[in-house]
Amino acid sequence: MTASGTATDVTGRAESATGEDGWWRDAVIYQIYPRSFADSDGDGMGDLNGIREHLDHIESLGVDAVWLSPFYPSPQADAGYDVADYRDVNPTFGTLADFDALLAQAHDLGLRVVIDLVPNHTSSEHAWFKAAVTSLPGSPERARYIFRDGKGAEGELPPNNWGSVFGGTAWTRVEDGTERPQWYLHLFDTRQPDLNWENPEVIAEFKDVLRFWLSRGVDGFRIDVAHGLIKEKGLPDNLQDTSQDATPTGPMWNQPGVHEIYRGWHRVLREFGNDPMLVAEAWVSDPSALAFYVRSDEMQQAFNFNFLLAGWDASEMRRQIDQTRAANAVVGATTTWVLSNHDVVRHATRLAMTDRNAWRHGIGPEDPQPDAALGLDRARAATMFILALPGGAYIYQGEELGLPEHTTLPSDVRQDPTFRRTGGKVIGRDGCRVPLPWDSTRPGLGFGPDENTWLPQPDSFAGLAADRQNGVPGSTLELYRAAIAIRRERALGDGDIAWNPSPDGVLDFTNGTTRIVLNASADPFPLEAVETVLASSDDAVRDGELLPNHAVWLDVD
Ligand code: GLC
Repeated sequence: MTASGTATDVTGRAESATGEDGWWRDAVIYQIYPRSFADSDGDGMGDLNGIREHLDHIESLGVDAVWLSPFYPSPQADAGYDVADYRDVNPTFGTLADFDALLAQAHDLGLRVVIDLVPNHTSSEHAWFKAAVTSLPGSPERARYIFRDGKGAEGELPPNNWGSVFGGTAWTRVEDGTERPQWYLHLFDTRQPDLNWENPEVIAEFKDVLRFWLSRGVDGFRIDVAHGLIKEKGLPDNLQDTSQDATPTGPMWNQPGVHEIYRGWHRVLREFGNDPMLVAEAWVSDPSALAFYVRSDEMQQAFNFNFLLAGWDASEMRRQIDQTRAANAVVGATTTWVLSNHDVVRHATRLAMTDRNAWRHGIGPEDPQPDAALGLDRARAATMFILALPGGAYIYQGEELGLPEHTTLPSDVRQDPTFRRTGGKVIGRDGCRVPLPWDSTRPGLGFGPDENTWLPQPDSFAGLAADRQNGVPGSTLELYRAAIAIRRERALGDGDIAWNPSPDGVLDFTNGTTRIVLNASADPFPLEAVETVLASSDDAVRDGELLPNHAVWLDVD
């Protein structure tokens, strides 16, 4: 890539990309959660060299790119989403040289690399925050964060009523030895102070961070909490209790001012050609409001969480597909499809749950345990379904093995701050972050050189380990490989859909010469006998009928 604007394509696959022909528009992107992908040095924690050892697995899936969750220096108060230095690698994960080697290796394999940028907050161990705490109210050091005087006679009450996403209040009072210590805002954990995005120094710093990684050759950034950077002026109390909503609203979310920031970043990316992209993690429920993030001069993609939240409900899935596609068409962007990530209950478990809230609360040993076989059938069907839709698709590490959530983790191993901050009321996200099983014959299922894994693996992982599925017809791994290959061959990600009439609970559409049917009803659905099955789970079609909880791709050429 040159800085002149002529994009030299690193993978040799696409031509120079613009808003209209950008590589991301129909890409399949594989999320690597570095803590849990693979451990090269035996400390039980994944690392960059572990990723390098298994990059061929990702290549064999046929995906276009990887997205790496944070690997920066961090005290890991929120598993790395608390960044202490934006321009380095946490020694636990490796070095900058390891990162460069990983990047080069990925590019050699034709994989683009997207990294995670966490701009809403830093770690409390970041040099800026340490300086802020020891500086006086009103100082430039404090002005990089959101410090306020408290309410009450002694300033002993938080400045407003905002709650942290992880439970409890969003304010912590500093201990700075002054008479009336100030409070600082943290929408997440106490150790994740929110930055002040009204401050030009903050704006300049992050542009510089983008340039730092773009110069090293990264192909894009996933923007953490993209809907949270700007807060409503005056920080008014939040008048609605939306803490239980999937996509909370309030004076701290989705403020119009965020868009100016992304326009600035768009310009920085274009200094490096047309290829680099930004994908927004923005929990914004109105599809038209979410589409604002992907206008032609802002980001390139935004995760479509509305579809993820539709669960196993055919009419809701269809409603979300139609709405998000229509909203994105207005701004000329494609949509993304995502079923799992490091924040939600894995879809091989979630789709078997009747509790619509299970995705966010997590599942613990005391909760009703989901039906693993049903969950896996539905997960495979749902994945096939999204892979046939036009737009980009995201895969979370381990879903290609059909991994379930770990639903019986003991409390004492849990690390998600949510669990602690809610006194265990919210189980949290550890269950979807368990180290991957690579080899069923080895201790720790081959996650690392010995049995160390930072979270214990459930018994079910052995049977799902990569070695048990590699080359095995009918395995989830082979189904992913086949579906991604056919998707590419038939350019489904770049196609269009026409819905076919279908009964309640069944979704049926045609994309080019491929027909996709998903049966989320309780009854078998008769298919036309003349059509050839391109891909399906082994047991999906019986006597010409598509069984419940399955999906099939048919050739209608
Ligand atoms: C995003 C991340 C999540 C993290 C939070 C705070 O939602 O995906 O893992 O806890 O931001 O950074």
